[in-house]
Amino acid sequence: MKTFKIAVIPGDGIGNEVTAEGVKVLDTFAAIKGNIQFEYTYFPWGCEYYLKTGNMMDVNGIEVLKGFDAILLGAVGDPSVADHVSLHGLLLKIRQEFNQYINLRPVKLLPGAPCPLKDKGPEDIDFVVIRENVEGEYSGVGGIRFENRPEEIAIQTAVFTRKNTEKVMDYAFKVAQKRNKFNKVTNVTKSNALNYSMVFWDKIFKEIAANYPEISTETNHVDAVSMYFLQRPESFDVLVASNLFGDIITDLGAALQGGLGFAASGNLNLEKEFPSMFEPVHGSAPDIKGKGMANPIAMVWTVKMMLDFLLEDEDTAAIIEAITQVLLEGKSLTPDLKGSAKTHEVGDAICEKLKGLLA
Ligand code: NAD
Ligand code: IPM
Ligand code: MN
Repeated sequence: MKTFKIAVIPGDGIGNEVTAEGVKVLDTFAAIKGNIQFEYTYFPWGCEYYLKTGNMMDVNGIEVLKGFDAILLGAVGDPSVADHVSLHGLLLKIRQEFNQYINLRPVKLLPGAPCPLKDKGPEDIDFVVIRENVEGEYSGVGGIRFENRPEEIAIQTAVFTRKNTEKVMDYAFKVAQKRNKFNKVTNVTKSNALNYSMVFWDKIFKEIAANYPEISTETNHVDAVSMYFLQRPESFDVLVASNLFGDIITDLGAALQGGLGFAASGNLNLEKEFPSMFEPVHGSAPDIKGKGMANPIAMVWTVKMMLDFLLEDEDTAAIIEAITQVLLEGKSLTPDLKGSAKTHEVGDAICEKLKGLLA
């Protein structure tokens, strides 16, 4: 029996609601397999914790998390705490402290999921965004000068390192090789305006591309990519994007696959020097929290990504198949999908399908 130690940070808002369903699916999967188990340690970190203690996580939280095989996170953010405080105190802190330099975000429309584009279907929407995850505009470098005076200045510096950029690009090419769809990587840039950071980014892209002659490449500015997502999503295979651009285009990608209720992600440290963290792309959704309205599919998909990172087992594909069956059946859908099922009912339905597929 192999035991995986999972740190669970449900966080705020619907983070709590969807995390419970992710854990349910993990346990169902483990029970069917019989040779793996998950040992969960829950951390009550988030905005409530901040209001009580003045910190978003324990002061030694990073040290504590080092002992886990992976981190499963719901969502962070609540209107009672300024977003830059809550996010920099927990989610962004973990990404940076654990050098989770890859953010892997699949964009795939499942049969039965609603696509906002008429004339496009599951065969058209199937690509992966590799988002740089610790640098760029998110580096936290900057400051405010002359606060509250007429000459006030805000500076937010984007930092790009050769080491990190090379690793992110290299991973994008490896993913393209492995997917073997079009064997293509799209470089998402903005080097027409950003004459240092993105010119550097393009240069590293070309250097790494030279190591993969069998992979074709295209380079598009992020504004054009946003348009192509809507006009020709079928042309994409793997995209590599800097931190902020990757953030923005993956919400657009989420819309293509049926909404934020479907978008999963993994924050990866490929060398496994530190634990990787798995979380849905969506936030804490304060507008629907506590109502059982949250769609847990993004979290269930996220858990599938976590399993793929932890173990080699083709049976994880059954999790996506189980989600698809639930979508096609149409009985257990949350309100974002025009259904009236509660979050936990969707989780239950997915587990039942999973048992049917694997047991
Ligand atoms: P959001 O993703 O929380 O919500 C955007 C919209 O999508 C809302 O209408 C919400 O109801 C809906 N939505 C999101 N997830 C859903 C789901 N699973 N099922 C059904 N509907 C869903 O983004 P926001 O409103 O910009 O941010 C709210 C808070 O979350 C802020 O504090 C923000 O900083 C934070 N946030 C956190 C993360 C994270 O922890 N990874 C990501 C994004 C935003
Ligand atoms: C995401 C989120 C975060 C990000 C926020 C909440 C800081 O939007 O994971 O996509 O910008 O990375
Ligand atoms: Mn985002």
